[in-house]
Amino acid sequence: MTHSISLTVNGARRDFQLDDPRVTLLDLLRERLQLTGTKKGCDRGQCGACTILVDGKRINSCLALAVSHDGADILTIEGVARGDQLHPVQAAFIARDGFQCGFCTPGQIMSAIGMMREAQAGDDPERIRECMSGNLCRCGAYAGIVDAVLEVQTGEANQRRSA
Ligand code: FES
Ligand code: FES
Repeated sequence: MTHSISLTVNGARRDFQLDDPRVTLLDLLRERLQLTGTKKGCDRGQCGACTILVDGKRINSCLALAVSHDGADILTIEGVARGDQLHPVQAAFIARDGFQCGFCTPGQIMSAIGMMREAQAGDDPERIRECMSGNLCRCGAYAGIVDAVLEVQTGEANQRRSA
């Protein structure tokens, strides 16, 4: 049985016919739309590399069935910049050395943007760490990631290093 769904992806409506109801949002984005910025790390909800925003909330797209999200509004890493202008979180990750290999970075950035929308962490580094704890970085760029989020949260260059 074929399932028809519509999604708004980075502001554009996309229609899909799904032969397999088990296809995840992650695979749909990567394989059907070639939006490969969203990474597949563990494919089992443990690393956060696949984090996207669905209706403004961050989720692990590897665990989300596409058919369960018919009509959803999706934001991926490809949709956060405005033309040539990076999103402030993207710019802060670069300025603060928030990545090394970069594999986890799209998920980290989407998680940070989602967290800020949730207004959860304020400018408390420990709270930021806690709120970002679902996003793993094998390279250990956590200090830079926290600094980048702090910089955006506080709206100023923040030199704090919270090792
Ligand atoms: S790939 Fe989804 S949490 Fe790891
Ligand atoms: S920068 Fe390499 S896994 Fe995070």
